[in-house]
Amino acid sequence: MVLEAYLGHVVSPLAAGGLLDYRRGCMLVRDGVIEDVIDLDRNQSVPAEARVHDLGNRLIMPGLIDMHLHLPQVTQTGKSGQHLLAWLNQYIFAAEARFADTDHARKIARWFFDELAANGTTCAVVFTTIHKEACDAAFEIAEAKGSRVIMGKVLMDANSPPALTEDTQTSLAESEELLRKWHGRDGGRLQYALTPRFGVTSTPELLAGVGEIYARHKGVYVHTHLSEAREEIQFVAKMYPGARSYLDVYRSFGIIGRRTVFAHSIHIDSDDIDCLCQTQSSLAHCPSSNFFLKSGVFQYKTIKDAGVLFGLGSDVAAGPSMSLFNVMRDANYIQASHWLEPQELLYRATLGAAIALDQDDRIGSLEAGKEADFIVVDPTARTAIVGDILDHPTHEILSALVFLGDDRLIARTYVRGRLIFDGQIAQNRLVKQTTSC
Ligand code: GUN
Ligand code: ZN
Repeated sequence: MVLEAYLGHVVSPLAAGGLLDYRRGCMLVRDGVIEDVIDLDRNQSVPAEARVHDLGNRLIMPGLIDMHLHLPQVTQTGKSGQHLLAWLNQYIFAAEARFADTDHARKIARWFFDELAANGTTCAVVFTTIHKEACDAAFEIAEAKGSRVIMGKVLMDANSPPALTEDTQTSLAESEELLRKWHGRDGGRLQYALTPRFGVTSTPELLAGVGEIYARHKGVYVHTHLSEAREEIQFVAKMYPGARSYLDVYRSFGIIGRRTVFAHSIHIDSDDIDCLCQTQSSLAHCPSSNFFLKSGVFQYKTIKDAGVLFGLGSDVAAGPSMSLFNVMRDANYIQASHWLEPQELLYRATLGAAIALDQDDRIGSLEAGKEADFIVVDPTARTAIVGDILDHPTHEILSALVFLGDDRLIARTYVRGRLIFDGQIAQNRLVKQTTSC
C-alpha cells in the first residue's frame, strides 16, 4: 500500500495529555491508518517512498466528532421562538413524519452527510426517525459516502402524534433487525445506537425492551435525551412517580453504562453525576441548542471536575449550525463565569468525544496506530480573520478557529484516509436544494 505524507501545521490533542504542535509537520498514512507524525523542524525527513501532499502551512487536525444531532431535522434549522415541547410539536414532528416516504428520506440523508463532511465532522452520533426503511437508507448512504456514524432508528410509543406512534414490540424488533444488519459494519466505521427519543415518548415496556437489547448486544450504543427542559422533566416525573430523578428512570430499565450517550443533561444533581461517573456513561453537551431553546446551562465545570465523560453536540436542528467551531464558541459563551480555553474546547470536539464514545483506540487524535480521520483547515479562508494568522502562536490560531470559525475554513475532510470532502471541488454545494422541505 502507498505511504501518503501530508505536510502542514499538525495540531492534535494527545492521549497522554497536552497538544502535539508541529509547525512543519508530516503525517504518514498507510492503508487508512496513521503510521507516524513527524516534526520536520527536528531534522526528521519525509520517507523517500512517500507520496507527498503539501498543504502549505494550513492546519492538519483530527476530524471533529459531533456527539448528538438529528438527520431529519436539517430542513428545520433556524425555526425559533419556542421551548422544547412546543418547538417539537410545531416544527419537528411534521418534518420527521415525512420520512415515511423513503425517497424523501434518501434525498435528505444525502444532503445531511454532505453537510457533515463539509463541516469537518468525521464522526457523528445521529438520530434518524422511527422509520426502519429511512434509517436503513441513511446507513447505506453513510456507508457509500465514507462517513463514520453511530446511528439508529428512533423508538416512540407514547405521547407522540399518530404518524410517529409505534407499536412497542414492532419498534423494538425493527431496532434489533437494523442493529444486526449495521452494527460494526466496515470494520466498525458504522455502529448502531438504540435510540429511544426521550422519557416523554417512551412507555415502561419500551424502555425495558431497550435495556434488555442493550444488555444482550455487548458493544451496542444507547442514544437518548436527558433532562433538557424543565417542562420535559416535570412530564417525566408524572409518568414515573417512583423514580428519584430522570436519569433514575433510565437506570431502572438498565439504560446506563459504557456506550450510553445522554444528550443535554442540564438539570441533573450530584447523585446523577456520581451515577454517570460510576457507570462511565457519557454526555453530549449541546450549547448552541441550549441557547436556541432557552433550555438552561450545562454544569460544565462541575461535570468536568467530577470526571464524567463528555463531548460536544450540534443538536441540529435545535442547534442552528452543524459547525462544531460554532458549538465550541457557544460552549464558551453560555458559561457565565467560566472561561473555557480553545484547547479544552478542541479536546471536547475530538479526543474527549472519542473517549466518551469508547472509540479512542481508533479516533480522536493524530497519533500512530489510529485511523486517519482528519481535516485540513485554512483559517485564512475567512476575510474576518487576519491574513497572517498562521504566523501567530498556536493558541491564537485555535482561538480564531473557535470564535471566528465555521464551515468556510474546512478545506478537506478525510475518514480513514479517504477524502470525503474537498472544498476546491465542492462548488456544487452552492447549488442549493431546489425542492422545498
Ligand atoms: N427531546 C426529544 N426530542 C428532541 C429533539 O428532537 N430535539 C431536542 N433538542 N430535544 C429533544
Ligand atoms: Zn436532540
